[in-house]
Amino acid sequence: MAKFNLRSLLLAAASGSVPAAGQLNSLAKAAGLLYFGTAVDNPSLTNTAYTAVAFNLSEFGQITPANGQKWDSIEPSNGVYSYTQGDAVTSKAQSAGQILRCHNLVWYNQLPSWVSSGSWTTTTLESVLTSHITNEVLHYKGQCYAWDVVNEALSDTGTYRADVFYNILGTGYIPFAFKAAAAADPAAKLYYNDYNIEYAGAKLTAAVSIVKNIQSSGGRIDGVGLQGHFIVGSTPSKASLVAALQTFTALGVEVAYTELDVRHSSVPASAAAQQQQAADYVTVVSACLAVAKCVGVTVWDFDDQYSWVPSTFSGSGEADLWSSNLVKKPAYTSIASFLKSAATAPVAVPTVVTTTPVITTAPATTAAGSNSHYAQCGGIGFTGAAGCASPYTCSTLNSYYAQCL
Ligand SMILES: *[C@@H]1O[C@H](CO)[C@@H](O)[C@H](O)[C@H]1NC(C)=O
Repeated sequence: MAKFNLRSLLLAAASGSVPAAGQLNSLAKAAGLLYFGTAVDNPSLTNTAYTAVAFNLSEFGQITPANGQKWDSIEPSNGVYSYTQGDAVTSKAQSAGQILRCHNLVWYNQLPSWVSSGSWTTTTLESVLTSHITNEVLHYKGQCYAWDVVNEALSDTGTYRADVFYNILGTGYIPFAFKAAAAADPAAKLYYNDYNIEYAGAKLTAAVSIVKNIQSSGGRIDGVGLQGHFIVGSTPSKASLVAALQTFTALGVEVAYTELDVRHSSVPASAAAQQQQAADYVTVVSACLAVAKCVGVTVWDFDDQYSWVPSTFSGSGEADLWSSNLVKKPAYTSIASFLKSAATAPVAVPTVVTTTPVITTAPATTAAGSNSHYAQCGGIGFTGAAGCASPYTCSTLNSYYAQCL
């Protein structure tokens, strides 16, 4: 026993940068990612056991509002904006020092009928798109690490979805939306987000065309979000996941897994099925770690109690890292172990260097200024004023985000 303890101490001393705690975000950062994150929906905010985990920075460094920033929530009728639902999640994330993936601006689903069933001309629909994107992006300006500008524009066969945007504006609505978002917040990273683009196929090829169309039209796209809704035992191999990530990074954009979950086809899952789920989760996280421009992994969400899976895929479930009574499952333990080993492995060192550049702006912990509580005050790409109004100080949360806390 004494010998074992001594060895543990020596190992801990030898790997000074590895946090003692086993929480996912701390471990992911030590392994070279920018964050390990989760989606959080509004109904779960009243569950204090849940929020204690969701808004714990050691566990999750990034939050995605699951529904509160979608069109039907933000602009339920033409020109009438409501940020209550979105802000309820983003304010908690910001208090915890977590960065935000903001989600989403243009999607065929959860789109109010005044948009989807309106009678539009090219001019009037472009005007509605511009107003919606500009208003929402300006509301969250300086707060979002990234925006999912367009979500799920492709059908399952890789054709454009025949939604109101495509039917009236054609393929050009996508570059149009990215230009509007770029104009409203030059610092936020702009993402295209979709599912079934995590491996080779017609849909991946079509998503590549979307990226190229934005770029060739003079628009800015910074990233592609691969949702990662997988099935236990059918999750693609690490090699095919890495190849798909590299297909996108070759276009000059970063990538992230943005909505990861791995569902069992029948529940309750056996012990063996839970081990397979753990292996599948590790496969996805390891694919991200293998690609320098894969910035992070976000789960959707982390607790089976709040999973979207059972209501969407009848009979399926238990897709998340914590059980519905908030107990960590084997998948959690396996990801944590994998990230720990990745942080200590020599191969992870170049990844650390390339994905977490040192902030070049001066640390602003002492400078006074006028930024209010929770406002951004520094970080890569931030061009606003430094410094915080008393009594707040500008605290560096990561390379991309310093905040008045
Ligand atoms: C985050 O969770 C860890 C592990 O449970 C705990 O030690 C730590 O105190 C928590 N942090 C906060 C701010 O609650």
